[in-house]
Amino acid sequence: METQKLPCSCLYCFRDSLGRITEWLTFDNMHHQWLLLAACFWVIFMFMVASKFITLTFKDPEAYSARQELLFLTAVPDAGKLPGEKHFPEELKPTGAMLPDSQLAQPLVYLERLELIRNVCRDEALRNLSHTAVSKFVLDRIFVCDKHKILFCQTPKVGNTQWKKVLIVLNGAFPSIEEIPENVVHDHEKNGLPRLSSFSEAEIQKRLKTYFKFFIVRDPFERLISAFKDKFVHNPRFEPWYRHEIAPGIIRKYRRNRTETRGIQFEDFVRYLGDPNHRWLDLQFGDHIIHWVTYVELCAPCEIKYSVIGHHETLEDDAPYILKEAGIDHLVSYPTIPPGITMYNKTKVQHYFLGISKRDIRRLYARFEGDFKLFGYQKPDFLLN
Ligand SMILES: *[C@@H]1O[C@H](CO)[C@@H](O)[C@H](O)[C@H]1NC(C)=O
Ligand SMILES: *[C@@H]1O[C@H](CO)[C@@H](O)[C@H](O)[C@H]1NC(C)=O
Ligand SMILES: *[C@@H]1O[C@H](CO)[C@@H](O)[C@H](O)[C@H]1NC(C)=O
Repeated sequence: METQKLPCSCLYCFRDSLGRITEWLTFDNMHHQWLLLAACFWVIFMFMVASKFITLTFKDPEAYSARQELLFLTAVPDAGKLPGEKHFPEELKPTGAMLPDSQLAQPLVYLERLELIRNVCRDEALRNLSHTAVSKFVLDRIFVCDKHKILFCQTPKVGNTQWKKVLIVLNGAFPSIEEIPENVVHDHEKNGLPRLSSFSEAEIQKRLKTYFKFFIVRDPFERLISAFKDKFVHNPRFEPWYRHEIAPGIIRKYRRNRTETRGIQFEDFVRYLGDPNHRWLDLQFGDHIIHWVTYVELCAPCEIKYSVIGHHETLEDDAPYILKEAGIDHLVSYPTIPPGITMYNKTKVQHYFLGISKRDIRRLYARFEGDFKLFGYQKPDFLLN
């Protein structure tokens, strides 16, 4: 049979059936061969279409994050060589907010978050809870990436270490994330990630006006639980001052039951944070309070016009969006987020507040109400009533 002489090996398995079909369609040998050749190309074409469809529909999240990680680990310091889609002239590069086109393309949710902040900032009744001075304390919280014109305000206990690593690599002090020693991430003498406070007044204003600015928030009470666990229960880093100096200070002033001798409890912590006179102890604790003061006190969201606010609860979407808006998505990607860890866990919150008096919880809410309202977190009525 002639079909065996066909150049297309792909047709091999279809040979017999196609041969039979073509036998009663063809008039001579020439026609016979041309028809089979056409059929062969048709099969290849259909296979290509089908395979495209299969990869689109069955792309599993695991494979996706593996790819993200790969991209992240191979962060390329030199932007020029990459075929990125976003190549703006240097002056236009930093912020999405400056480019009308990309404003239009922004998913509504991010614009709504900024709109909510604007509205809550105008609410006179919340003024004390939403406003703060752009002091040295705030400028110390903001990290600068001049190369890509980015400002990042640090909100501890909301996955900030990963963002700092991203910026350290972009600044060029280290070629990739995994080459940053763990002890250097938070060592601002060595990591090449300057604080905004280290610049002159004019340089600070210039950066605040023109750079892409962002920070990440999460449910305020979950953040406090995370801070309590991380600093007073586990403390994975070696930071003995939390348990040996700060905890005894809180217990001395706020423990209700004087015969109770256990180490610091979440209840003691809640009573300290909810005390309208907490500043008295805050001053003694110094900058360690960054782990539990409000987002307002850390980042001054009513005074500084941020470009994007990320939410920990939707970090899977927000992290790539921030990288894109900052114009660095072709250089780095956010490390893989383990499934489930960013979700709000009501059971956990209930568990931690169990047995703590309503009065103390209401006082805590009264202090953090600004954070709840500014960033759209629901008032936790299940704890307050
Ligand atoms: C805001 O704070 C000021 C000064 O601490 C105080 O006098 C004022 O009563 C507060 N306003 C509200 C609405 O709590
Ligand atoms: C105070 O703590 C002690 C020791 O843990 C305990 O035996 C006692 O019942 C507590 N008193 C109150 C009122 O909770
Ligand atoms: C929520 O927290 C509780 C208590 O800490 C834990 O047992 C549970 O697994 C968590 N749920 C989820 C979905 O992570």
